[in-house]
Amino acid sequence: MESENIPSAKSLAHELPKILLATRNRHKTREIQTMLGMGVIVTDATEQAHLPEVEETGFTFEANSKLKAEVISRHVSGIVLADDSGLEVDALGKEPGVYSARYAGAGCTDEANTALVLRKMKGFPHEVRAARFRCVLAVAENGETLAVFEGAVEGFLAHEVRGDGGFGYDPIFMPLGHDQTFGELSSEIKHTMSHRSRALEQFKEWWAARRK
Ligand code: IMP
Repeated sequence: MESENIPSAKSLAHELPKILLATRNRHKTREIQTMLGMGVIVTDATEQAHLPEVEETGFTFEANSKLKAEVISRHVSGIVLADDSGLEVDALGKEPGVYSARYAGAGCTDEANTALVLRKMKGFPHEVRAARFRCVLAVAENGETLAVFEGAVEGFLAHEVRGDGGFGYDPIFMPLGHDQTFGELSSEIKHTMSHRSRALEQFKEWWAARRK
């Protein structure tokens, strides 16, 4: 029973600020919730069936993140955050880039995408396996972008899938200074250096200033 003076966890949760993420990728939502901490509730489009599916027609991470944030923010009140992110491999002319989620074809699995990158990079020695993850976060309200933040993490591609942590291309990406992949490193270590956490740090500052 809820006492008069001690608020329940449920009533406290009602008072916490909420951020809607313009994504149906639960991995991203989980990472962003972990990185923002318990003082905010992160929800996503999987919980709101009326939100439209936004086709990523842009040719840059920035264009796609703005597009997602703007479209979704027309359907809800408050700010919407969108993440567009992906892997760039120098030897592949920065592919898969904005096509990271669908590199092996529409609706394909993370495993199929990862296998395709490894196949294209077969025989390439370590020195020419440079790659990076990039993330662009856009914040929008009422259909208009308010701010954009970018983060990147440099590294190299492994020669095979290693580790089962994280998602997407994590099991083939070794961040600079590590010989383990993001699939092998703990999520805590990934969050200290990832493209997403670097972009999110800037968002946090912006958001704190706005709420003052
Ligand atoms: P988006 O939903 O169009 O931004 O696609 C992002 C895609 O990039 C994901 O489906 C993953 O394949 C890849 N990606 C983005 N961030 C990460 C990450 O942190 N780890 C591994 N793969 C990622």
